[in-house]
Amino acid sequence: MEFVRLLLVFLHLLGMAVLIGTFLVQRRATGDGPPNAGWLHGAGLQLVTGLALQLLAPVTDADYNHMKLGIKLLVLVVIAGLALAYTLRKTTPRWLNPTLGGLVVVNVGLAVFWT
Ligand code: HEM
Repeated sequence: MEFVRLLLVFLHLLGMAVLIGTFLVQRRATGDGPPNAGWLHGAGLQLVTGLALQLLAPVTDADYNHMKLGIKLLVLVVIAGLALAYTLRKTTPRWLNPTLGGLVVVNVGLAVFWT
């Protein structure tokens, strides 16, 4: 089971890399068209791997701070909601990219500093 947990953490960290990479790529994009699909792909990967890690905790013997995970989930829902809303509207306001990037950094901070 430890291998499964490590595999999920591995994918969870790659999901974070997708989100940060999307932020950097989107910086060069113009305001026309939908936001980069990386926002939805990265958010989806974080949701699936994060929830799987949390739900498997009894089996993997992990002891997580559930208040922290709840707040991380909330931040992720905001990221995914904004990305989905503007993907459907096919427009990318200038504030969207820095806002999504900032929220990702908030979640990295929560993950690392809130023990
Ligand atoms: C933008 C979204 C997210 C980002 C950037 C993110 C980032 C991270 C990072 C960097 C770590 C490693 C921390 C460390 O090892 O010290 C981590 C661990 C973890 N995250 Fe997330 N996370 C996100 C969303 C979520 C969500 C929504 C959940 C679940 C509801 C979640 C559950 C977890 C769990 C359970 C761990 C601990 C894994 C372990 O070491 O066994 N994450 N996250």
